[in-house]
Amino acid sequence: MTLPQKVRLVDVGPRDGLQNEAQPISVQAKVRLVDDLSAAGVNHIEVGSFVSPKWVPQMAGSAEVFAGIQQRPGVSYSALTPNLQGFEAALAAGVHEVAVFAAASEAFSQRNINCSIADSINRFTPVLEAALAAGVRVRGYISCVLGCPYQGDVTADQVALIAQELSAMGCYEVSLGDTIGTGTPGATRHLIEVVAGQVPRDRLAGHFHDTYGQALANIYASLLEGVSVFDSSVAGLGGCPYAKGATGNVASEDVLYMLNGLGIETGIDLDLLVDAGARISQVLGRENGSRVARARLAAR
Ligand code: HMG
Ligand code: MG
Repeated sequence: MTLPQKVRLVDVGPRDGLQNEAQPISVQAKVRLVDDLSAAGVNHIEVGSFVSPKWVPQMAGSAEVFAGIQQRPGVSYSALTPNLQGFEAALAAGVHEVAVFAAASEAFSQRNINCSIADSINRFTPVLEAALAAGVRVRGYISCVLGCPYQGDVTADQVALIAQELSAMGCYEVSLGDTIGTGTPGATRHLIEVVAGQVPRDRLAGHFHDTYGQALANIYASLLEGVSVFDSSVAGLGGCPYAKGATGNVASEDVLYMLNGLGIETGIDLDLLVDAGARISQVLGRENGSRVARARLAAR
């Protein structure tokens, strides 16, 4: 099986990474993180969310973050929008790309966005209509694709069904989220084979949390299945507020190191990415969650 020659890494650290942080993080620190990532060559950065501040207080300042960042040409700066209210706020903040997020599990859908899967899809319809009319690209997420913290097993057929719905509504890409990081490479390959029956592989992305240490293996399995877009968080920041115990996304530095080793192009400079992760880890007073970054920093 040939591997893709190029991969697009979506750094979701400023959103997925920081959304779960209890301590206040200044707008300035968030802006610096986004600017550091674009300076490193990351060409898709998930900057924030336009969600209820009662549900996710840390993302409340997302409009200010968008106003503060230096937008480089060729870089997509995106935001999560769960409903029309969020989409309108994002549009007012000058956002050019948004993401809607559904779950493959009913229980997770209720806890995360307070409605059933079917209701969530209905709420996305006006978001997609408004976005497409405004020339805003929409990405779709599916959570719990390889397991749910509340209901356990999730079938690949259920994921494929939702992927098909998101795609048919106009999402240009569907990102498959292993929210609790329980997936393993065989299950990942099976999932992609089944979902690819509904949505072509070049419109799928992988979003692996590294809770069980399987994320890099799952990314490699996805590469073998022809997927070439992956979400990751610099310094392995984060966790989901609605998935207790779930750790951050796989660290961007670790993914990049693996891709570099495979000779796969990304356009990202590893040293600058390590700098970005080191700075935000210092702001948070946290050990850097990237093993590659820790090794590189120790060797400097
Ligand atoms: P709800 O309470 O059912 O909504 O929340 P509602 O329509 O009944 O409105 C209730 C209140 O929320 C009202 O305010 C609205 O104005 C306000 P009040 O009148 O009480 O003062 N509201 C909003 N405020 C700001 N922005 C909005 C918005 N919408 C309503 N867009 C809602 C429903 C979806 C809003 C809520 O459940 C919510 O915001 N949830 C947050 C979900 C979230 O951000 N989760 C984390 C991101 S997803 C994730 O991490 C997974 C992913 O990484 C993939 C993976 O790993 O699996 C993507
Ligand atoms: Mg996530």
